[in-house]
Amino acid sequence: MRKAIVYVSVHHGNTEKLVKGIAEECQIDLIDAVNQPDADLSSYDMIGFASGIYFSKFHQLILEFAEKNLPDEKKIFLLCTYGGSANYKSIEQILDKKRSKVIGKFGCKGYDTFGPFKLVGGIAKGHPDEDDIKNAVEFVTRL
Ligand SMILES: Cc1cc2nc3c(=O)[nH]c(=O)nc-3n(C[C@H](O)[C@H](O)[C@H](O)COP(=O)(O)O)c2cc1C
Repeated sequence: MRKAIVYVSVHHGNTEKLVKGIAEECQIDLIDAVNQPDADLSSYDMIGFASGIYFSKFHQLILEFAEKNLPDEKKIFLLCTYGGSANYKSIEQILDKKRSKVIGKFGCKGYDTFGPFKLVGGIAKGHPDEDDIKNAVEFVTRL
């Protein structure tokens, strides 16, 4: 069973910290969608998409990646980091079109200094932390 996580992490590297923590414990390939915008996903049985939440959506670059490179009818899991709350709708709309099945979703807080939060030193400082990473590893292991 070949697994990969495709990720975009551009604000504070929060999502990257999470997926690298997963990759240290699980047999899984990591694909940075910014550096590998044309990566071939056809050989993977299970694919994760991971991103920070931007204006209530997964990052535009990961949405474009999924639209362009995700083959039909794959098993998908979703991961996100967020300052306020998780929101999976933007990516799920694309997955629906690709007849992909979402087999699990995981979200946790990620350090956020966007806009006014910068004035107060940011929110969710230190996240994802060790517990977040442990929970994410358990999530992927159970899939
Ligand atoms: C431009 C911008 C918009 C954001 N919009 C949201 C949002 O709508 N909801 C939310 O919960 N967090 C929002 N955040 C916080 C990020 O989702 C959070 O910091 C995330 O962990 C960033 O992940 P990354 O460091 O992997 O890119 C926003 C951050 C930025 C910079």
